[in-house]
Amino acid sequence: MADAQWWRTAAIYQIYIRSFADSDGDGIGDIAGIRSRLGYLAQLGVDAIWITPWYASPNNDGGYDVRDYRAIDPTYGDLREAELLIGEAHQHGLRVILDVVPNHTSTDHPWFQAALVAPPGSPERARYHFVDGRGSGGELPPNDWRSTFGGSAWQRVTEVDGEPGQWYLHLFDPSQADLNWSHPEVHREFLDILRFWFDRGVDGFRIDVATGLVKHPGYPDLGYREEDLLVLTNVPDHPHRDRDGVHAIYRDWRRLAGEYDPPRIFVAEAWVADSERLARYVAPGQLHTTFNFPFLQSAWDAGELSSVIESTLHAMSRVGAPPTWVLSNHDVERTVTRYGRADTRKQPGRSGHELGPVDIELGRRRARAAILLMLALPGVAYLYQGEELGLPDHMDIPVDRIQDPIWTRSGGRRRGRDGCRVPLPWTLDPKGAGFGSADPWLPQPHGWETHSVQSQLDDPTSTYHLVARALRIRRSLDPAPELEWVVRSDSVLRFRRGPALECIVNFGATEVPVPAGAVPLLRSDTIDVTPDPIGPDTAAWLRPRG
Ligand code: GLC
Repeated sequence: MADAQWWRTAAIYQIYIRSFADSDGDGIGDIAGIRSRLGYLAQLGVDAIWITPWYASPNNDGGYDVRDYRAIDPTYGDLREAELLIGEAHQHGLRVILDVVPNHTSTDHPWFQAALVAPPGSPERARYHFVDGRGSGGELPPNDWRSTFGGSAWQRVTEVDGEPGQWYLHLFDPSQADLNWSHPEVHREFLDILRFWFDRGVDGFRIDVATGLVKHPGYPDLGYREEDLLVLTNVPDHPHRDRDGVHAIYRDWRRLAGEYDPPRIFVAEAWVADSERLARYVAPGQLHTTFNFPFLQSAWDAGELSSVIESTLHAMSRVGAPPTWVLSNHDVERTVTRYGRADTRKQPGRSGHELGPVDIELGRRRARAAILLMLALPGVAYLYQGEELGLPDHMDIPVDRIQDPIWTRSGGRRRGRDGCRVPLPWTLDPKGAGFGSADPWLPQPHGWETHSVQSQLDDPTSTYHLVARALRIRRSLDPAPELEWVVRSDSVLRFRRGPALECIVNFGATEVPVPAGAVPLLRSDTIDVTPDPIGPDTAAWLRPRG
């Protein structure tokens, strides 16, 4: 664990804790569940885990509504167990990245509770965005900003005298109140929270809504309707996204991370379309890495993917940050489902049948090829739990079981993100598929156990074995060589990474021959190490002819 530069080339596995493994049978994943599967993750061959929020929370938004940043939610375990997990992960050679949620707290947080009973203009209210409404009696929201989950981004409170009063800002659910980052106490508190976890051996943080912390102090109208923040934007002087002020915050955070040995690291959740703006987050003295959402959002299309790869490499090398790659996470449809649609681009907040039919076999073939493409690229790769199993989304969650606040906030127009958050299948048990309980918090689709780890370990052709083999080869190669294009056409992407690896991805309808003399290493369509031509929607790794 000595390499301080590990974060430049790591393969990082995202654990959505609620759905990973349930040790006590209450239907919800937990820390003990993660501890029991560390061997699995080490065996798979990833270098680090990122665990989604595990803090004390009313869980209106999967834990992204934090009540206490220094306590573990009792459904997941306790602090002692968290410390055990961190130590055990390290023993398995796995680094641990947590999720910090600085844009908002739960409205159950003591600060917000204090603000509710304090008068307008009080120091308690100054830590959030409490603003008088418009209209003669303040009955209209202060401006036209919208919540990502639907409706106005403002909620009116009842003052202690029982009268309707000020409004507070929530760019997400009304139970997630935006913090006021122009308040010094907010800065101090988050530095202290980071220290609390760094002192316990945590290796880094993913920063939730990293672009959102600073708001325009005058709260001007946006002038148009914007429903979803989890889409790429590039709006100059936007009143609450990607404002210049956020960078001062991250310079402080970077300084703090650098005080540790080895230095701790950050990855920003930044939905920014312009790669130059994105590069500002990872400029010298700022964050280490940022998610590459243009890559995740791309269609299954050679031209689109190769231009994202090019612009990423260019923008990141200019600032000395490693490129990163991600195809799925807990907020978007899984690639197996998305790539099986007629339109393979990511669709914000929408999922399931509302987006039309899916050819799962086609989607899985493409998803397997996409994983080989991603793992052949230089830099950091993220895998979302279940991606190594080729899981599809659950398309038919009954509406009375939907948990995502997007469903209610959109008045039942958008089903939200539950389809990609279904509890993992570990065994062939038809009841609960070995997740840990027969009736998990989100229902699993019929036949889920056929995708299980158990069945895939026994099947050498499985997506699990493909990913494990790819990770093993990736680890054995020199991570340094840059990407060098050999072919960049509408139907084929072919590139080299030094003398040891060439990757060919066929996006077209006809077969592509394997170059003469190249040594086959791995294929997305077959376990055979074969020089056969590469079929449509298939990727191959080769050692180029010397
Ligand atoms: C991030 C999280 C998402 C959450 C939102 C609000 O985008 O990934 O799951 O709903 O922030 O915290």
